Amino acid sequence: MSVIKVAILGFGTVGEGFYRTIQSHAEELTAVLGKKVEVAAILIKNKQKERDINKDVLVTTEFTDILNLPQLDVVVEAIVDKDPTYIFLKKAIERGCHIITANKEMFAHYGQELLELAKEHHVSVGYEATVAGGIPVIQTLRQLLNVNRVQQVQGILNGTSNFILTEMREKKLSFAQALRAAQENGFAEADPTNDVEGFDAFYKAMILSRLAFGEEPNWHAVERLGITSITRELIDTAERLGLRFKHIASISKSSHQLKVSVKPVLVGNEHPLYHVEGVQNAVNISSDIVGQITLQGPGAGMYPTASAVIEDLVYVCQNRPESQGLLSTSETNTAISDLEQKE
Ligand code: HSE
Repeated sequence: MSVIKVAILGFGTVGEGFYRTIQSHAEELTAVLGKKVEVAAILIKNKQKERDINKDVLVTTEFTDILNLPQLDVVVEAIVDKDPTYIFLKKAIERGCHIITANKEMFAHYGQELLELAKEHHVSVGYEATVAGGIPVIQTLRQLLNVNRVQQVQGILNGTSNFILTEMREKKLSFAQALRAAQENGFAEADPTNDVEGFDAFYKAMILSRLAFGEEPNWHAVERLGITSITRELIDTAERLGLRFKHIASISKSSHQLKVSVKPVLVGNEHPLYHVEGVQNAVNISSDIVGQITLQGPGAGMYPTASAVIEDLVYVCQNRPESQGLLSTSETNTAISDLEQKE
């Protein structure tokens, strides 16, 4: 049986979760892909740290070691920084690898460029894990976009902020106490400024905007506010009025005008995001044929994010570029037979 060789860049919460899931779900992966998936290499930062990784996996601090592997089919990236990560992914695509990323900041900045490069090299890009953790929002939008005209996408896209607002309301914690709990639970980014000042949700909103509407706004013109100005007193007053603060990213388009905001909003019981609590994320999509759809689920954490990455692994391995609309059906057949001859 032929093998799909995968490299993982980064062995933090997401990278490790993906590695463990490949092991725990090897049977399912082989069944769906018809090939065995093997982790060939893992890129790490610190060689001294103890890690539970199989002896036959190359563990290295040098990306060139990974690029020089004799067989490499998919590169999965779970690093926090956007540079030099973007360069690594560019090189992986140029080598002919499919890429998968969980890095929203990097993808918000360079996603378009990577998608175009991938198109040139006839490889696929998976980025489900960049938005809303385990919720398959990217796949859902891809599916809806065939015929439906999407009018609005609004979502709670930052689990840390939603967790903090929930803890402050339910447990009467201070902002600092609630943030500490989010950090202890591993939801918050290394620098929680990105979470609580709305940057994390902003990057996710840019990714959704591009996918749902084919464009993104001028970044500087977007109203972006975090949750740091929401005090316990404000939350208590809102609650007495039957309202809750939710940190909502909203992207809508009407009369060719794209509107995007990322900010705390007071919502009532009738709002589709009112009941979304804790580290949960939710995305509400309005489109002309289907009406409204709300997807809700875990927006962060090791295994919810690993779920998005592993489903992307199947997506990139099964979706040759022709299924992304790059080639016509006849070209597809030629491409498939070319591939079969190569194997
Ligand atoms: N820090 C992010 C959040 C992790 O809290 O939602 C998932 O992107």
